[in-house]
Formats: sequence, structure tokens, C-alpha cells
Amino acid sequence: MFRHCSTSACQPDPRADRNQANAFSAGLVWKLFLVCGSKVLSMNIRKISDAAIEEAAALLRLGRLVAFPTETVYGLGADASNDMAVAEIFAVKNRPQFNPLIVHVDGIDMARRLVIWNATADKLARTFWPGPLTLVLPRFPGSPVSLLVGAGGPTLGLRMPSDINARKLISATGFALAAPSANRSGRVSPTTAQHVHEELGRDVPLILDGGMCPVGIESTVIDISAETAVLLRPGFVTQEQIENLLGCEVIAKGDDSGACQSPGRTPSHYAPTLPLRLNVMEPRADEALLAFGIHVPPGAKMVINLSEASDLKLAAARLFASLRLLDKPEFTAIAVMPIPHDGLGAAINDRLMRAAHGSTALAESAC
Ligand code: TXA
Ligand code: MG
Repeated sequence: MFRHCSTSACQPDPRADRNQANAFSAGLVWKLFLVCGSKVLSMNIRKISDAAIEEAAALLRLGRLVAFPTETVYGLGADASNDMAVAEIFAVKNRPQFNPLIVHVDGIDMARRLVIWNATADKLARTFWPGPLTLVLPRFPGSPVSLLVGAGGPTLGLRMPSDINARKLISATGFALAAPSANRSGRVSPTTAQHVHEELGRDVPLILDGGMCPVGIESTVIDISAETAVLLRPGFVTQEQIENLLGCEVIAKGDDSGACQSPGRTPSHYAPTLPLRLNVMEPRADEALLAFGIHVPPGAKMVINLSEASDLKLAAARLFASLRLLDKPEFTAIAVMPIPHDGLGAAINDRLMRAAHGSTALAESAC
């Protein structure tokens, strides 16, 4: 520090100098660690704002990935017409290539440029869009969407999110966004920006933080590319709502129903690290309990209640975040109380069954 000083009178004690220098550099290193460390943790997360949306749109135009909030879960977005950008999604997610991606649009006009629109699509979109309903339709022959998005198949799944910022982002880029849930393949979907960061870290250049997703469960997927409507994935918009609107029966494809099922509905698609025990009324002392309703059995090491008031919407919104909180090595398993199967309960149970698939722990009852 004082090396330029030439007179012995102003030369400080060399040991004091060394100590001071050491203290200084240790302090500097610590400060740098704090600044850089926190930067590394948070530098790719930005609170949503018009400026952040512009920044995200610029990245997307360059073929980069951006994670963004929707009303259901966070999506990992890319320009749907850019093959390399779409391939990057598969790479980051480590997703099987045969699993097609949902294309996010900012309105019916954009959708009509990508697929062969039909009267059923019009009816469903005018009622449930913007919102958590994905329509699978035949690709338009000149559709600019990358073939990789539909995994090489003849159809595309489209949805118009109700999250205003998601739509602003699509409009700002001027093109449709291919966006699966922003998690590694086979893991639970993220419902906060922090979940995305934990899951994908620095593999995503930018994560737009719009807070917690209000729906918390992925969109309903319905295939209306042929004569008969087929429900490929249950979600927030229920089969009953769709049937009431269309005035006809919708076929729901089960897991063992053959080739037509949604490729993402493989049995182990949503898997926490810990085994799951379903329909549990007597949790063990070393287990975490995912509870539902007011009558919670005692005995578990930790309890998270999806909804004391038995509200299925609230339970859906909290499902993935709660599974993440309980998926910790201090527990041997996640025990899950029975969830009623009606309405949104079907979608919640669908996700739980998938999460439990491959678990060594068995369900206490088979309902
Ligand atoms: O709510 C959602 O749908 C979220 C947000 C981000 O929009 N996205 C989401 O995407 O859950 P992903 O990729 O994780 O799930 C999409 C599901 C998969 O099961 C996929 O197989 C199915 O939709 N899918 C997409 N396009 C399809 C197509 N053309 N035919 C059949 N299934 C399709
Ligand atoms: Mg997913």
C-alpha cells in the first residue's frame, strides 16, 4: 500500500503493513464473494417490468431461452420457429425428443397462422382463452413453427396464457413461444422464479420473476385435430366444463390407452426424489405428510396442508411447491392424504400418481 514512499520516516512497520494488507485483502475477497456470490445467485432473475420484458424479448430474438411466468407454471420459452432455440430447450430440460412442446400465442389471430383452425377450436378458445387450456390441432402446411416443437408429428399444441406479462412478452417478440414447464424432464413443475433457478440455474440466461403462479398446475390438453375430442391431460379446465360447452362427450385417454395419449403423460413424468405413499391416514414418524382437509392424522415429522378448508383450487396452486418443500433427505418418504377425485382433484391425483410411480413405498389403499 505504502510502497511508493521512499523516506524511512514515513515507512510503516513492515509487519503492521503485512497485517493490514492481509486484513485488507481478506476483507476485499469477502466483499467480492458477497457481491459476486449474490450476483451469481440472482443475476439471471429479474423482477417483471416493461424493461425486463424488452430485455427478454431481445434475448428471444437472438435465439436464447427465457423462463417466464404463466398463470399455470413457469415456462422455458424459445422462439417456436427457431430450430436451434427449440433444440436448446430439449437440451436444457434433458427432455425426450418425442415429447412435443406447447406453443404460446398472444391471441386467436396468431394461432390461426400456425394451425388449421376449426369450429371446435373457436368455441373452446372464445370461452377458455386466455387461460389454462391447450388445443392440439393439425399444423398449417406453411406453419413457421419448427418441426421439433411437434416432435415431428402432424399436430401442434397451442395455448394463450391468461398471465398478462406472458402475453406482453409474446407480443413484444412478435412470434409464438415454444415453452414447456421450466424444470428438468421428469421433475415437478416450477411455480416460482426461485424454483426455476434451483432447477435450471445458469442454463437459462434470464428468468422473469412474476411471483407465484396462481393456478399452480399445468394446462388441460385437449386434442381436437380429429372428429372426436380427446382429453390428453387433465388440468384446471375440467372435462365436465368442456363437455358442457361442446354438448358432447370427450374421451379421456388413460395411461394404458395406447398411442394417442399425450407423450408427456408417461407414468413417471412428475417425480420428486423421495418415494411417495398415497392415500395415507397413518403417517410414519420419519415421513413428511402432505395433508388435505381439517382432519390431519398425527405422527409425521413435518406436515404441509394443501388446504385445511378442502379447497381443491388452493390445493392445486400449492401442490408442486409443497412437494418441493417436503422433498428433503431428512424424511424417508412423503405420505399423501387422500384427495377427492372430483373436479380439479382428478388433475391433482393424476400428478400424484405420476410422482409416486417407481416409488418403493406402496399406497396404503388402492382407491
Ligand atoms: O400449463 C402448461 O401447459 C405449461 C405452461 C408453461 O404453459 N406448459 C407445460 O408444458 O406444461 P409441458 O411441455 O411440460 O407439457 C406439455 C404437454 C406434454 O404432455 C406434451 O406431450 C403435450 O402437452 N403436448 C404438446 N403438444 C402436443 C401435441 N402436438 N400432441 C399431443 N400432446 C402434446
Ligand atoms: Mg412439464
